[in-house]
Amino acid sequence: MRPGSPGPAPRRPRGAGLPDFPWDSLAGAKATAAAHPGGLVDLSVGTPVDPTPEVVAEALRGAADAPGYPQTHGTPALRETVSAWFARRRGVPGVDPDGVLPTIGSKELVAWLPLLLGLGPGDVVAHPGVAYPTYDVGARLAGARPAVADGVAGLAAAEEQALQTGGRVGLVWLNSPSNPTGAVLEVEELAAVVAWARERGIVVASDECYAELGWDERHDAARGGLVPSLLDPRVCGGDHTGLLCVYSTSKQSNLAGYRAAFVAGDVALVGELLAVRKHAGMIVPWPVQVALAAALADDAHVDAQRERYRARRDVVRTALEGAGFRVDASGAGLYLWATRGADSRTTVAELAARGVLAAPGDFYGPAGARHVRIALTATDERIAEVPGRLADLRA
Ligand SMILES: Cc1ncc(COP(=O)(O)O)c(C=O)c1O
Repeated sequence: MRPGSPGPAPRRPRGAGLPDFPWDSLAGAKATAAAHPGGLVDLSVGTPVDPTPEVVAEALRGAADAPGYPQTHGTPALRETVSAWFARRRGVPGVDPDGVLPTIGSKELVAWLPLLLGLGPGDVVAHPGVAYPTYDVGARLAGARPAVADGVAGLAAAEEQALQTGGRVGLVWLNSPSNPTGAVLEVEELAAVVAWARERGIVVASDECYAELGWDERHDAARGGLVPSLLDPRVCGGDHTGLLCVYSTSKQSNLAGYRAAFVAGDVALVGELLAVRKHAGMIVPWPVQVALAAALADDAHVDAQRERYRARRDVVRTALEGAGFRVDASGAGLYLWATRGADSRTTVAELAARGVLAAPGDFYGPAGARHVRIALTATDERIAEVPGRLADLRA
């Protein structure tokens, strides 16, 4: 540095504005649980453990020769497959393939969407009160402000607060089925949010990656049920303007390692995202595009995986209820949202002492502080351990 020079402006690492990575705080409980003589039963993360379906692995292998750059927009074949999937599996006809864009898993889209949409200081990103932490992170990465808002009443309050500080709500995140609670937003609830947002020209994005894992009669595909999508004509009248549905095959197809997901809806908004993503190199590798299309074209492996989780869910739920837990919501998805009334860290410690690791509800916001989130993503062998581990914990 030259003598007398003020030097460069102090750099503020981007991570400094982000919350601590919540799982780091579980290290102690994990060590305790791992010391159990029967070994760790890790129900703290939603990472799939069953094999990647052969139909998908085969598609990936068949696409291994990929010397050229892939299309950021995704191949036309992939985008047609997504459109057909919406019609077949989600009750959503008429998704325009131009309004489909593959993403490198959906976490990156959740984290970058506010920035890609041009939101920044002064803008508010609304998300559910008990929520997957990345909605908050995405707002912060864009320099926008995250705000908790559930339903139209919550959104109106968030809007009021934003206006008082000269800001405005720029994006509303919905998550159905919810991580962590497993609650499903019904058609009327989705439609009310869409109507509210449309009056104001606000974008609504709905993260629906657990939609194939419905357990309640109304939402269980095995019984003719359906988890409604934001793009459902009963929700939006068949008009996808201002709406984005975010979906991932990580959970339904055991593909978390492939990073295979997509966003779909408003053609103009998807075009905006595409324009930036092309410049930024946010491209799904071509073999993964091929594998993603294979996964979305095959329903049999999704149905089989759902039944695996159903059996695990029954075992864990019965064990939890026998141990004095109340399971709230949890009508769909990969988690049981459970409470014994105590602070979630106390419950995590009680479970860890029995070799079972759960996620404390406070990871998902202060409103979750008396719940724990129990994931169903463990092998049948590990799940079979749970009843015995909890047997001494009585109501
Ligand atoms: C609600 C929600 N959205 C998005 C994701 C990210 O999934 P992926 O990045 O594997 O597609 C997860 C993963 O747990 C999630 O729970």
